[in-house]
Amino acid sequence: MSKISVFWYSVIAFVVGIVIIYAVPSSFGLTLPLTAKLMYILLLVIGIGLYITYNDEKLKEFVRIITEFLRGKPEKSTYNVIRIVILAIIPLLIGWSIYDFKAPKAQSPTGLRIQHPTIPGKFEHLVNPLREPEDEIVKKFIEEENMGDIGLEEARGLLAEKYMDEGRALYQINCRPCHGSTADGSGPMAEGFQLRPINFTDPGTIATVVESYAFWRVAEGGPKLPPTSTPWDSAMPIWKDDLTDDEKWKIIIAEYDTAGVEPRIPEELH
Ligand code: HEC
Repeated sequence: MSKISVFWYSVIAFVVGIVIIYAVPSSFGLTLPLTAKLMYILLLVIGIGLYITYNDEKLKEFVRIITEFLRGKPEKSTYNVIRIVILAIIPLLIGWSIYDFKAPKAQSPTGLRIQHPTIPGKFEHLVNPLREPEDEIVKKFIEEENMGDIGLEEARGLLAEKYMDEGRALYQINCRPCHGSTADGSGPMAEGFQLRPINFTDPGTIATVVESYAFWRVAEGGPKLPPTSTPWDSAMPIWKDDLTDDEKWKIIIAEYDTAGVEPRIPEELH
């Protein structure tokens, strides 16, 4: 009966061990961290080392095959060819793996995205007309609601309340699914988007922009964002055609109020 030599026994044990470490966890859909793999490989090598050094006979046989390989066998030409090929491949493999590790690779850009790009010019100077309605509009409101001889300022306050209530209702109907009923960005649909709907209560969002900016974003949504803001990432719809301008301004009043933040005050031009 021909016995497998200690050397080949060790090689086979090593290969089988490596296959088990790499293939078994992944065939169950599990990912083994690299550190755990390295630990198992170390245990495998220690085990094989113990086997080889179990007695002098095994160790001598193992060392003999290696020294034979390193010295070559002058009488066997095919053996020597294979030997030279293997000896040449080892440094090449090491060189290639170091090159592969060190060489810079073409990577797809990481998700750098500008949330607040420059507002388009035509939206820049818009002012929310419903914040301070003109006297004419307040008077019309008094007439419509048959308020008799109510003071102008008192009526203005009531009109502001009306706008706020209408804005709140419109917000809950149109924006709540994504931005959430409390404007914290956790509406029932929010989990479905990789780029989450904005949390308006976060002081870094709508509180840092003027109202005309919020108006632009509501009117033109994600698709009209410039490339630096990766428009294709955003699920924010275009509301231009579905809401009137007054409805948009009302929603914006309610949006800031629900979130408990104030819009940025436009800088004065000097
Ligand atoms: C389908 C989900 C969805 C709906 C519905 C939706 N939004 Fe959005 N909204 C988003 C997402 C996602 C973003 C973040 C990406 C972006 O800025 O375009 C966003 C961003 C915004 C921003 C920009 C905020 C900032 O600080 O940059 C505003 C303002 C906004 N939404 C207002 C509204 C209003 C008002 C409504 C209702 C009329 C609404 N959204 C409805 C998904 C939605």
